[in-house]
Amino acid sequence: MKRVAVVGATGAVGERMIRLLEERAFPVQSLTCLASERSAGANRTARFRGQDLPVEPIREEAFRDIDIVLSSVPGSVSRQWSPIAAAAGAVVVDNSSAFRMDPDVPLVVPEVNAHDIPKHKGIIANPNCSTIQMVVALKPLHDAAVIRRVVVSTYQSVSGAGQSGLVELEEQLEALVQKRDWPEPSKFAHPIAGNCLPHIDVFLPDGYTKEERKMIDETRKIMGDASIEVVPTCVRVPVPFSHSESILVEFDRPITPDDARSLWAKAPGVTVLDNPEHNQYPLAADAEGHDDVFVGRIRQDPSRADALLFWCVSDNLRKGAATNAVQIAEELVKLSPVNS
Ligand SMILES: NC(=O)c1ccc[n+]([C@@H]2O[C@H](COP(=O)([O-])OP(=O)(O)OC[C@H]3O[C@@H](n4cnc5c(N)ncnc54)[C@H](OP(=O)(O)O)[C@@H]3O)[C@@H](O)[C@H]2O)c1
Repeated sequence: MKRVAVVGATGAVGERMIRLLEERAFPVQSLTCLASERSAGANRTARFRGQDLPVEPIREEAFRDIDIVLSSVPGSVSRQWSPIAAAAGAVVVDNSSAFRMDPDVPLVVPEVNAHDIPKHKGIIANPNCSTIQMVVALKPLHDAAVIRRVVVSTYQSVSGAGQSGLVELEEQLEALVQKRDWPEPSKFAHPIAGNCLPHIDVFLPDGYTKEERKMIDETRKIMGDASIEVVPTCVRVPVPFSHSESILVEFDRPITPDDARSLWAKAPGVTVLDNPEHNQYPLAADAEGHDDVFVGRIRQDPSRADALLFWCVSDNLRKGAATNAVQIAEELVKLSPVNS
């Protein structure tokens, strides 16, 4: 049994972490729920196994006698608190981007590189949501034919920007239907209702966004192959939950759609949904609430035999964040089943 703390317990990801600990029957001895002073001051609670647990403010003493911390707070908060939790003896699974590219911190998607977990020094990083679903789909292909290059365009839901992203879309959709003005956007640079924004996170000097840079760097680190070229365009779309991705993959040898289908049929965490004759392919609305990565629209590149295209969808708050973190925690339990 483990003493667990969820940091960011009131957030879009944190709430799902708590739900998943219960759904997956994680061996929780005690659960501590932490968030900001705002939530603690408002006497917020978190429901776990039929009980309303108090949400407490983050402070050093809260990490005493904790085995596993699942943290889902902004990067600046993680940078301050995750090392404190680790120094107090917990293993921290951190959802923010703060430690992902730190060479001392494993960046883990269990279906791809669970073998990196034992290398941790107190902090394990959970990758970016759009990267997680892509590497789960790419890994079985890469094991069969080496991937040279990936060209990906994402269609990312507003919940990828947290609770406030969801609220901003809802407010604007309501105003759109009622034909009234809406307040100035605060979460996104432009209105998201009735729009697609080719802009997620900040722009870098090379013209790519930080979200796109994360997909390049994190894919290489998780797959353990710095030679994979990733060419991303990340787009925010007016969808509440689940990210969709259009992916073109180039291999070192020819590979057919049937080869890919049979590799994915055997792969953990992947569901093939590819019956275009019946209008069946992965959809964001259908993926919500599920843990798998769904793939479909599997096609040969008409211009070359060594490249495939497919459509990939997954719930960003579950496999893209909370489920992946809880899966890492489950691997930690296997490594150390009793309290240390
Ligand atoms: N959303 C996704 O799809 C996704 C996917 C992968 C990774 N992530 C990462 O996960 C993290 C959280 O994302 P989210 O979508 O859950 O965001 P969110 O809905 O905005 O939730 C943020 C959480 O952090 C807490 N928090 C904020 N400032 C704090 C502070 N100064 N001290 C203590 N707690 C503080 C909030 O507590 P209060 O409610 O008290 O303010 C809330 O519980 C981010 O680093 C994000 O990049 C998100």
